[in-house]
Amino acid sequence: MSGIATAAPNRAAINPLREGLRLEQTPPPCTMVIFGVTGDLTHRKLMPSLYELVVDTPLPASFSIVGFARRPWDDEKFRTEMQTAVTAALKDQVDTAGWQSFAQRLSYVSSNFDDPAGYQRLKEELDRLDQERGTGGNRIFYLATPPSYYPIIINNLKAAGLAKRAIPTDADQHGWTRLVIEKPFGHDFPSAQALNNEIAGTFSESQVYRIDHYLGKETVQNLLVFRFANGIFEPIWNRQYIDHVQITVAESIGIEGRGEFYEEAGALRDIVQNHMFQILSLIAMEPPGVIDERSVRDEKVQVLQAISPLRGATIATDVVRGQYGPGWVGGAVAHGYRQTNGVAPDSSVETYMAMKLRIDNWRWAGVPFYLRTGKCLPQRTTEIAVQFNRVPALLFAGSGTMPPEPNVLTLRIQPDAGISLRFAAKVPGAEMQIRSVNMDFFYGTAFSATGPDDYERLLLDCMRGDQTLFARRDEVEQAWTIVTPILEYWARQPRPIFPNYEAGSWGPPEADAIIERDGRRWRRL
Ligand code: BG6
Repeated sequence: MSGIATAAPNRAAINPLREGLRLEQTPPPCTMVIFGVTGDLTHRKLMPSLYELVVDTPLPASFSIVGFARRPWDDEKFRTEMQTAVTAALKDQVDTAGWQSFAQRLSYVSSNFDDPAGYQRLKEELDRLDQERGTGGNRIFYLATPPSYYPIIINNLKAAGLAKRAIPTDADQHGWTRLVIEKPFGHDFPSAQALNNEIAGTFSESQVYRIDHYLGKETVQNLLVFRFANGIFEPIWNRQYIDHVQITVAESIGIEGRGEFYEEAGALRDIVQNHMFQILSLIAMEPPGVIDERSVRDEKVQVLQAISPLRGATIATDVVRGQYGPGWVGGAVAHGYRQTNGVAPDSSVETYMAMKLRIDNWRWAGVPFYLRTGKCLPQRTTEIAVQFNRVPALLFAGSGTMPPEPNVLTLRIQPDAGISLRFAAKVPGAEMQIRSVNMDFFYGTAFSATGPDDYERLLLDCMRGDQTLFARRDEVEQAWTIVTPILEYWARQPRPIFPNYEAGSWGPPEADAIIERDGRRWRRL
């Protein structure tokens, strides 16, 4: 059994939200194998999150991590590299005792992804861990590689006898196997379906954890709590009271050295198909019968199924794409997208997009959902703004009195996470002057602590076998069904005249037309 020292002094005592994670069910012992462990995702996100989980959360002492990648490292080199990465990410939160406890759990297998001998060595390592630490045959295979390797790795796991399909009756005897994959889950509907078929040939859906890190954000999870743990909002959460909804994912950063990746992605694939549709589904879904992985995901899929299909004429009017040229962001000069390494000098990949969607169901028919996202915008903001109908009669329409603005409920995901309600108030004085004011809730002040990182939450859920916050196959495919006609339409059009917005501006002017045509305006952020 485990010879691993118990974790370092925990910080839960000073962070009440971490206490929340501590109180959750302890996951069973297991080993996590990370393919592509030498890559950026592991350094920036996975290892720091795993470190936090190990030192702050009651993970079993036997929990182990095996890195699998091409670089000819040994265990020691792997540990040193990971220490550098974790320290860079968490700074002085990493202490000697914590690191020693964590480092003992790390081992490394060096292999090409298509070399069967590497998978035999992996098998031996996993058997050793089962015997020496008691990980009980429970394995998580985390694919942090470019997606082109997914089928190769899955087939090799299968050939090595490591990809056991879940059979409920023998799960307890021989341990379980789970597969975690990172987006992009395909690049259009047919490729997503092909990838899912490939995975389904080896694993059951109950074993597949598709990560969308937005679902790990506290504030995204709070959308469910806000809607379904409060009695006052749900009765007005529909077409009778809501005029429209705006969802914004604005980023001030550009593509940050990811030129080659982004040339294959673009804003529609990188943000809209996954993160924005996840937010949209949570905002628009019906109340589930219970909060569990099946009910929540069933309701989310139904929202996507109810979105009116976008076809040629509608795409021409309701979808706008853009690409940033040189400009200034936050007082610093920003290169244009086409001047970035790895980007074609005549690239027509979109770094901005805005669209109008309709959800044709009883709750939302007639309520437009306006979505916009972009890189190199003036500020980083992710928010959902729900604008309510105007008052039916203007009772205060005297001289010099402007009609009251409609009420807006804003759910800010990041930064400054919180919720605001905008409503009309009388300006003090003898005259009847009306002005809109905000009622604000800030996470930071209300709870005085930040929650766990997105990946911590999701990794812990995967260890515990809870798929609620992971994308299900039908969800992913339905999202691709909505965006694939847009990709096909763009492919048929003449090359767009790009760049069409300056870095540091709010996107191309054409995006305004989508919403102003309906007599509405994008919110000023
Ligand atoms: C990633 C995208 O999925 O999400 C990036 O690939 C984007 O392009 C990032 O910058 C945004 O995530 P967050 O958590 O910073 O909003």
